[in-house]
Amino acid sequence: MSTSTKQLTSNEMLLAMQNERESNARSYPRRLPIAIKQAKGAVITDMDGKEYIDCLAGAGTLALGHNHYVVHEAIQDVLAKSIPLHTLDLTTPVKEAFIDEVFASLPEGFANKAKIQFCGPTGGDAIEAALKLVKTATGNRTILSFQGGYHGSTHGTLSISGTTSPKKHIHALVPDTHFLPYPYEYRCPFGVGAEGHTYISTYIENMLDDPESGIVTPAGVVVEIVQGEGGSVPAPIPWLKELRRITKERNIPLIVDEVQTGIGRTGKLYAFEHADIEPDVLVLSKAIGGSLPLSVVLYDKKLDQWEAGAHIGTFRGNQLAMATGRATLQFIKQENLPAHAHELGAYIQSQLKHIQKQVFSIGDVRGRGLMLGVEIIDATKPANKIGSHPANGELAKLIQKECFDRGVILEVGGRHGAVIRLLPPLILTKQQTDEVLTRFEEAIKAAEEKWVNK
Ligand SMILES: Cc1ncc(COP(=O)(O)O)c(C=O)c1O
Repeated sequence: MSTSTKQLTSNEMLLAMQNERESNARSYPRRLPIAIKQAKGAVITDMDGKEYIDCLAGAGTLALGHNHYVVHEAIQDVLAKSIPLHTLDLTTPVKEAFIDEVFASLPEGFANKAKIQFCGPTGGDAIEAALKLVKTATGNRTILSFQGGYHGSTHGTLSISGTTSPKKHIHALVPDTHFLPYPYEYRCPFGVGAEGHTYISTYIENMLDDPESGIVTPAGVVVEIVQGEGGSVPAPIPWLKELRRITKERNIPLIVDEVQTGIGRTGKLYAFEHADIEPDVLVLSKAIGGSLPLSVVLYDKKLDQWEAGAHIGTFRGNQLAMATGRATLQFIKQENLPAHAHELGAYIQSQLKHIQKQVFSIGDVRGRGLMLGVEIIDATKPANKIGSHPANGELAKLIQKECFDRGVILEVGGRHGAVIRLLPPLILTKQQTDEVLTRFEEAIKAAEEKWVNK
């Protein structure tokens, strides 16, 4: 049958409509051609009834997976009580209960001195707020961020993100942003591997104290504890402690972006807890809304020097998201899901390292908790002096497709799109995990064969 006369499946029909009507800037559907009929837990069903195990979870948003009962109950409760669905930043009992829960989830030292700002419901808007907060409080204008960092897609957040391709056509990004090297062991910016983080601390400390560094005292340093979009790169704990010491000694606010790592994903409720440090500013979105859009900035009261209306936005009062966020946070704590994320993450890493030995294209397996990365390399090209081969984004995409065909949804990211990223919901079971690993092993072997024979 020719393509023109062939009957389209329901999936193909919706995808064709999407292709026709949606913006050229759409991204995920290009790599994950799926129209979703329904989803429950870690399983998504497409329009034609095919099931997928979801290891993307709304880019890390769906901590409890899809349509969890506590999320449904929280929504129903708000609806049953005729609580207003939208309140700008006016308060309600739902909002105060959410704030109680968030404060109770923070390390005591930070909670005792923290204030909260509700933002337009995206991670990007909350980062924008954090930048304005520290600029206002310090009177400084310079922001330091890290190569490989991702903080959003607005003008301001793009300016402080490492990713260069979306910047190509955008002129006049926010000036006075400087990028520091991030400790990325496999592609160590100083070419020394595991010890690279000590060079970076020395470099940062020197730079801040050097009156000829060209960089004036910053308003803040923005960091991800595990770089997400940069390729699931966990920062070493000693380096995080050093970064905290260096910034604290110089009174430079440390903004910790936990938009992706937040609420249990890395094996602790907040990823900064692994290093036993406290941020000056903590940015949360994604999981904090318990499936619905929400974002907040929590910060040390002493920075609270901005004026009324300094960061506004209409959609800062989404009561449903506050109710689902609170219910999700409660459930994560009750069920000790951070411990589950830690154990399952360690198991997945060990199994992936086992697979690494049987294939030729895995250069590195890394991550923290359920924020995992598998770096795909071109082993036919020579390794550098620390043994890293060039990134292989083309093969990573092939692996993603082979996984997709086998009913596993995962994302590629990182440098050159060469990192397979796993961000499953925290409720993923051991059985589902083993299913993912079996299908992943088949997929990578099939993709390697295609790549060799291309
Ligand atoms: C660490 C981090 N910060 C900020 C953002 C931006 O969040 P949003 O896409 O909700 O604007 C993201 C999104 O992936 C992120 O991973």
